[in-house]
Amino acid sequence: MRYLGIDTAKKISRIGLGTWQFGSREWGYGEPYAGQEAKAIVRRALELGVTLFDTAEIYGFGRSERILGQALGDDRESVFLATKILPILPVAPVVEQRAVASANRLGVRRLDLYQVHQPNPLVRDGTIMRGMLALRQVGLVGEVGVSNYSLERWRAAEAALGGRVLSNQVRYSLVARSPERDLLPFAESQGRVVIAYSPLAQGLLSGRYDRATRPSNRVRATSPLFLPDNLDRAGDLIITLREVADAHAAKPAQIALAWVLRHPAVVAIPGASSVEQLESNAAAAEIELTDQEYQALQVASDRFRPVVGPAALPRLVRARLGR
Ligand SMILES: NC(=O)c1ccc[n+]([C@@H]2O[C@H](COP(=O)([O-])OP(=O)(O)OC[C@H]3O[C@@H](n4cnc5c(N)ncnc54)[C@H](OP(=O)(O)O)[C@@H]3O)[C@@H](O)[C@H]2O)c1
Repeated sequence: MRYLGIDTAKKISRIGLGTWQFGSREWGYGEPYAGQEAKAIVRRALELGVTLFDTAEIYGFGRSERILGQALGDDRESVFLATKILPILPVAPVVEQRAVASANRLGVRRLDLYQVHQPNPLVRDGTIMRGMLALRQVGLVGEVGVSNYSLERWRAAEAALGGRVLSNQVRYSLVARSPERDLLPFAESQGRVVIAYSPLAQGLLSGRYDRATRPSNRVRATSPLFLPDNLDRAGDLIITLREVADAHAAKPAQIALAWVLRHPAVVAIPGASSVEQLESNAAAAEIELTDQEYQALQVASDRFRPVVGPAALPRLVRARLGR
């Protein structure tokens, strides 16, 4: 495993584990997964040197936090545990109360990273950051983070906190590259971190799915990326991933992760539906792409033009109806 070269109280692995899948109905992995596999995934992650574990109060309405806390057991204190608050009523007393509830579900005295899940469109961050500051002062929160923030709002959050907002958790992958515009340069120059979520584009970049083999769970059935037309359009990118993977005796998903990790300010938090996937993802931290491979992937990524926005809507409805 490799770790981020940044000054934090605990080291942060470049490949972490995303746990939205734990106990969440929308992923549809069922009870054997929530009850057993999830725990096995966490235990194996620890063995492989993963220290970054990401959850949120909203995942499975608290169930993900509970499953993760139980699976970590006595190792809870040695890992870098990140959770998120959904800022529906982001006034300081509510923020404080929600942090306590998350810490209780996780079974910890301190949240290493407490993230605002998404920007509240109506309330500015001064309000929520007052709560964060109080939490940091009493030691319940180590670092403050945000998620799905623009650069402007990330900086405003820092101004409101009066200190560093360590990380911004955003969608970043070969099919979602907008963080390259300004978030990545900012993070690199200021010693901040971009936590890449959906780094495998929710499994698309594994190359397991095509028009004839589409995943059926709710997360992906409602995602334009998994429309038959878009799976067709992703074909060339998958071919390039396979070519690079073959040169490293690796899998396409591993190359997709190695690609996001090439940026020094990025850590990735892929989810996993099995221990095998977790092992493969953790091993991707060791893969180093050549400049030529990196470029080839950029070019293939640039050429991928999915159907998105309003144009995708009728197609999504047709796909849901199986037509
Ligand atoms: N802050 C936010 O707003 C936000 C939003 C989304 C996610 N997140 C966080 O980011 C984490 C990861 O994002 P995500 O779950 O959306 O997408 P992801 O990590 O890109 O995709 C995860 C899915 O890809 C497949 N997969 C994983 N490893 C694989 C491998 N080695 N080979 C083949 N397939 C593999 C699995 O699905 P199958 O096996 O079923 O194909 C798995 O459930 C979440 O768990 C969550 O913690 C945060």
